[in-house]
This record gives sequence, C-alpha cells and structure tokens, in this order.
Amino acid sequence: MTRKVTKAIFPVAGLGTRFLPATKSIPKEIMTLVDRPLIQYAIDEARAAGIKEFIFVTSRGKGALEDYFDHAHELENTLRKSGKDDLLELLRHTNMESGAIAYIRQHKAMGLGHAVWCARRLVADEPFAVLLTDDVIQGEPPCLQQMIEAHAETGGSMVATMEVPTDKTSSYGVLDVAEDMGAIVRVRGLVEKPKQNPPSNLAVIGRYILAPTVMENLNKLKQGAGGEIQLTDAIADEIDAGRAVYGLRFRGQRFDCGSKAGFLQATVAFGLAREELRAEFLDYLQDVLAMSKAAE
Ligand code: UTP
Repeated sequence: MTRKVTKAIFPVAGLGTRFLPATKSIPKEIMTLVDRPLIQYAIDEARAAGIKEFIFVTSRGKGALEDYFDHAHELENTLRKSGKDDLLELLRHTNMESGAIAYIRQHKAMGLGHAVWCARRLVADEPFAVLLTDDVIQGEPPCLQQMIEAHAETGGSMVATMEVPTDKTSSYGVLDVAEDMGAIVRVRGLVEKPKQNPPSNLAVIGRYILAPTVMENLNKLKQGAGGEIQLTDAIADEIDAGRAVYGLRFRGQRFDCGSKAGFLQATVAFGLAREELRAEFLDYLQDVLAMSKAAE
C-alpha cells in the first residue's frame, strides 16, 4: 500500500522578475486574483487533498506572506463586534493551525530543485506533494486531489501534465512516455525545456507527488551542480534508478499566473466564476470586445 501524502512543499523563494516592479516590495504569491492572493488558491487545493503540514520555502522580502497566515486578532474583534460574521468566516480560511505551517529559508535562488531540497528534514522519509503557486488550476475535484487518488493506485512519483502545442514545449519540462494508459501515463524520461524534437506534447505542470528518494537525488545533484538545480533532473534520476514515475492528465484548466498574460486570463476566468460578479463583468467584457471589433 502507498503511504498517505500529508505534507506539501510550497516553493515561494523565486525572485518573480516577470512582475517587476510590483514584486520589488510584494511577494508574487500575494498578488490577488479577484480578492484572494495566489497562495490562498494553492493552500485551499492542498487542504482539499488532505494535506496537514504546509512547508513554505521562502526568501528575503517574503514577510507579507508569513503575516498573511497569522490570526489578525484586532481585525477579527472589530468584525465580531459589528456582527460581520460572513467576513469572519472568510478570514477563518486564511488562518493556519499552530504547528501546521513551517517556513524554511532558501538563502540563494538556486532553482526549484534546490528550493525543494531545502525542506528535506521536514519531509524525512515520506512521500510529499509540491505545489507551485504560479500555476492556478480550476478543477473539480481539485488537481492535487485527483493526483493523490491516482497516486494511491500507482505509488511511485507523479507529475501533473497537460497537452501543449509543439511550438510551446520549449517552455516546459516535457514527458517521454513509455506507456499511455489514458489519464495516467508511465514516464520513460523527462526533458527540461527541449529546444527541438520534444519527446511528446505532454508538459509538466506545477503539481508533484514525489517519493522521498527524490530528496536523495537532489542531494547528489546539489553536490555536483554549479548553476540552477532542476527538480525535473531529480525526478528523471528516479527512472534511471528503476523507480516508477507517472504523469496524470488532470481534468481542469490551468493558468500560468507567473506570466502577465496568464494572470490576466486567470482574472477573467475567476471573475466570471464568481456568481456575484458574473453578470456585470460579462456585460463589461462584451462591451470591450464589441468596441475593439468596431475599431478594427
Ligand atoms: P519561476 O521559474 O517562475 O521563477 O519559479 P520566479 O523567480 O518565481 O519568477 P520569474 O521567472 O523571475 O518571474 C517557479 C517556482 O519555483 C520557485 C518560485 O518561487 C516559483 O514558485 N523557486 C524558483 C524557488 O522557490 N526558488 C528558486 O531558486 C527558483
């Protein structure tokens, strides 16, 4: 039987240069889709999947992120006194139980693999999830839950994957597929950002369930590497060692909120998904489209 996955790592130590100047003073993960910061979407997804321990790999200037998960006693008291129970309920979702959340510092942005490796002592010998908050996914059930259910069947390590056009594969880690079983594929290899001849159109998206041996692989990479330490290399090492790696074609829509265009698309999608905003927002979008067509 595969061990239950209860720990998740959130690597949030990147510089977020694509969102400068905003990220000069605010962490990218605090940027807001409708009324909730990106990190809240990732936390909600992890909670829905049964995650109990939340490990953040942070860096300088991420204080706002740590504050976000604290209880805001003064604010809560004011809301309580004025009977604003609905807002209190909203805030409840942002509070984390004492001891459920840990912050580890990545002292230098040496890549995603290095960020994950920084959490090795907290993960110990258990399988663990990794969620990249840049990738916001609308899905029912939420993407990580789909993965945890699939992983309970397969064991090994698992990455979320989706089809992308061939000319976009060079922006992703791409799967070399050994066996296609429909929603689940067994992976023969992973190629990080292939410049040409991608082994498939299946791109790796920022959700992972990893065997504890991936941490050992990262340890070796860390000793050998000069530049950025890639998580995909450590996952590919699993295959070389004869351990299974799978991809899950999740059901849902993924938005790349690490890019400006993706963030804008997500704002539209999540705005339209909100009942209280939908009618007014849709009217506005239709007007904008009609005006831009007329101007062409
Ligand atoms: P990105 O490649 O999007 O880098 O990292 P970034 O620094 O966040 O953003 P840009 O490209 O400069 O705009 C993917 C994920 O890996 C984390 C990031 O925080 C993000 O969640 N990461 C990346 C780290 O935690 N540490 C690193 O050294 C690199």
